[in-house]
Amino acid sequence: MVKVDLSGAQDFFETFGPDYSKISDAHRTLFDRIGEGAEFTGWLDLPGRVLQTELKSILACASKIRSNSKVLVVIGIGGSYLGARAAIELLRSPNYNLIQKDTPDIFFVGNGLSASAINETIEMIGDRDFSINVISKSGGTLEPALAFRVFKNLLEKKYGSAAKKRIIATTDENRGILYDMAAAEGWERFVIPDDVGGRYSVLSAVGLLPMAVAGIDIERVLQCAVSEMHDLDLRSVENPAWLYAGARQHLYVNGRSIEILASYEPSFRYMAEWWKQLFGESEGKNGIGIFPAYVEYSADLHSMGQFIQDGPRRLIETVVSFESTGQNLKIPFVLGDRDKLNYLAGRDFGDVSRTVAKAVAAAHIKGEVPNISITVPEKNEEGFASLVCFFEMSCALSAYVSGVNPFDQPGVEAYKSNMFRLLEQEQTFGIS
Ligand code: PA5
Repeated sequence: MVKVDLSGAQDFFETFGPDYSKISDAHRTLFDRIGEGAEFTGWLDLPGRVLQTELKSILACASKIRSNSKVLVVIGIGGSYLGARAAIELLRSPNYNLIQKDTPDIFFVGNGLSASAINETIEMIGDRDFSINVISKSGGTLEPALAFRVFKNLLEKKYGSAAKKRIIATTDENRGILYDMAAAEGWERFVIPDDVGGRYSVLSAVGLLPMAVAGIDIERVLQCAVSEMHDLDLRSVENPAWLYAGARQHLYVNGRSIEILASYEPSFRYMAEWWKQLFGESEGKNGIGIFPAYVEYSADLHSMGQFIQDGPRRLIETVVSFESTGQNLKIPFVLGDRDKLNYLAGRDFGDVSRTVAKAVAAAHIKGEVPNISITVPEKNEEGFASLVCFFEMSCALSAYVSGVNPFDQPGVEAYKSNMFRLLEQEQTFGIS
């Protein structure tokens, strides 16, 4: 399990501190599946279900893609791509497509409407063999659906009728446009379970297939997630999800309305993007919610550091760190010491980074920013699974405590209905 340390937040708690009786009630509501959105709590036992039913087919499909393709194009948006990208960047590399490897390049598209991004991806694929994993739970989301048109055309031009063997659809079990197309065309299909919402779906085929193609040991991820979910059912203040959810909600009602998630690892960036969606879409509704943002240290200390130290005091800073990243690099000794840094020679970058992190946290606490520290033992499959389970659990508890349904996103529909209305109007009456 991850460790949560609230010692840097304690000074900002009101006399009685977080109300864990509310967290306890939320925990019961979640596990008894009696709260709002209970029909979307399938993520609680998702890893175990996948291990028993689907793992072999996902691994077989990934190995087929690895043997017949140099590139996998993953098409999806929001919960239908962020988790996979987070895992690949965290566990392989943020520069995954540039490193030497024996697994295919992976391009994520369909998460926007930029012509230049799509054109550039086509250019980067070049004449290499490729396959497509199109992911959409609803099956009708505009951005991925449009990108799919483009890449499916490309695939069909290149492979003719054999193209259908290179399309894998991850979608609803028995409905939706993508489901209908896949069934009619005979594409290989994976299911996003009905009881799992998009942003809670990373441990289904949505995240697991691209991860397996990238060479991540998904069996290890699932096994660890099964035991994490079990451990996170601990109903006491020893539970790290209770500590995190309790502290967030307590700080929020006392005026802290922005949470910055910070990490000193650039490979954490997409993990933070996934976290942003998870918390933003789950909690920001009915006029309330903590605004989730991400900062990458040390880089952002030189851009956002001033604001964090000295701007409006509405921030909570949550720092995620790994006890071991599996990487070492010693600072070299230099004759002459003209840059005056020999006092650091022989120390490891990781060790220096830990000291800097301590100094930064102390300065920010002094600047009245409560600090929550989350520590993960290793930056590996277990660490990834622990973080996913921990954040999903904390998010559901925190949202229930604040009184909102953690599993719907009615606000997203507003832009979608406007967009479709306008696009249809323009089609009928001409673009004005
Ligand atoms: O959490 C959610 O449900 C959403 O953010 C979805 O993941 C996102 O909108 C993509 O939807 P779909 O998978 O239906 O294309």
